[in-house]
Amino acid sequence: MTDRALDVVEFLLTARVYERNTDLDENDLPPAVRSALWDGDGVPRPPKATGEAVANATGIDDPWDEVASLMFTEQDSFSGHIRLVDDDMAMEWYADRATPDRIQANPALASVYEGDFEGVDHEAARDANRPMQADPQWIDGLLEEMFDEDDEEMLDLVEVQAPAEIETTLEDLVLTDEQQAETAKVSKAIEHRDYLAKVGLVEVGKLLFVGPPGTGKTSTARGLAHRLDLPFVEVKLSMITSQYLGETAKNVEKVFEVAKRLAPCVLFIDEFDFVAKTRTSDEHAAIKRAVNTLLKAIDEMSLVKDDVLLIGATNHPDELDAAVWRRFDEILSFPKPTEPMRADIIRIVTRGIEVEDFDPEEIAANTDGLTGSDLRLVLREAVLDALVEDRTTLSQSDLLTAIESFEERDHLRNLDSLEEAVETEEGDGHDHAHAHD
Ligand SMILES: Nc1ncnc2c1ncn2[C@@H]1O[C@H](COP(=O)(O)OP(=O)(O)O)[C@@H](O)[C@H]1O
Ligand SMILES: [Mg+2]
Repeated sequence: MTDRALDVVEFLLTARVYERNTDLDENDLPPAVRSALWDGDGVPRPPKATGEAVANATGIDDPWDEVASLMFTEQDSFSGHIRLVDDDMAMEWYADRATPDRIQANPALASVYEGDFEGVDHEAARDANRPMQADPQWIDGLLEEMFDEDDEEMLDLVEVQAPAEIETTLEDLVLTDEQQAETAKVSKAIEHRDYLAKVGLVEVGKLLFVGPPGTGKTSTARGLAHRLDLPFVEVKLSMITSQYLGETAKNVEKVFEVAKRLAPCVLFIDEFDFVAKTRTSDEHAAIKRAVNTLLKAIDEMSLVKDDVLLIGATNHPDELDAAVWRRFDEILSFPKPTEPMRADIIRIVTRGIEVEDFDPEEIAANTDGLTGSDLRLVLREAVLDALVEDRTTLSQSDLLTAIESFEERDHLRNLDSLEEAVETEEGDGHDHAHAHD
């Protein structure tokens, strides 16, 4: 008997248990099963366990082939649905083959096998299961419900990713000791937020990431959501100005409502310096109102009460005033990488590419002042240059050449943005691309 048969039987059993036991809800289904059985705004009873649903949940193309020889399964020759014809026999067959860990990963099954296996506990299984609020289907449904067609601008302002859609992981990032310590601390705080609530420690869960562009602020926030298995809600504050002015404050409120409805989740507010700018300059009153709404919403939001981890990010800490700083519990610095960090970053970004005579330390020694994002651009340049010569392998000298041309271009760009900086001082003040680095 194959593991694949076990996968298919587990799916069929899960659907059956869910159908029979009305005390269970969608959060008792493992995410893959839930998403395969999802229909409209939930998983119906009985669930539609079509062959396609089985294939979607298990990744097995011809599920019937795997279980055709079992006594307790049947395929409807007309609809192609696979069914259990003898639940007890299926239960027994599964219990003989599944490990307690496997059962514990499936809250619906944990509810029926609780007591039969050591370490199988329904309540704990349910707590550890990813909630449906983190499924792409649920998120899409919520966004559709909250924003009608007139709200198209709203979707420019806020972007939501389900944890399964987040590709950035913390393992792909080279973090400073402080950054590692802080991400570990936040992960623990989220895990134990019930305890924090009980002891009345509510001043946790609002972080501000500070550092030059390209130092990994956005990636770290995403990676954190990935590690915590939480949806990632991203807001770009500069988009506020592109909104219908009259609606701006209302839209800010909606962003926070989205975050609360998706909770537990990570709410990432990028370009936080925008707040400070509007407080000092004579911006349109509607924008000032929106910013005040934002600050108030931040004050009222809490990780412990609302299950929302709030992360702000700014490239321009010098523009933030005391009123903004004190709203965050923790400031985390994103400096430009040191030489050893650059060597590590180079090793990571070249993973999967063959480099002859590869010497990451030499690259690191030659890239003082470059960020993680710059190093990625250097690599891209080297890869493209090699492709021009029809090569798909790189050499150390390709990388060194790419560094030189990157630095030449960077020099020109800086000259450019110096001029821009002078202009924007007098102009609308929104383009802060490289004015400060
Ligand atoms: N410390 C780092 N380690 C690995 N990659 C990095 C690091 N910093 C930046 N990068 C890479 O540079 C790119 C841009 O980073 P990003 O997170 O957008 O920076 P920021 O938000 O600070 O401007 C990402 O693709 C990321 O992988
Ligand atoms: Mg960013």
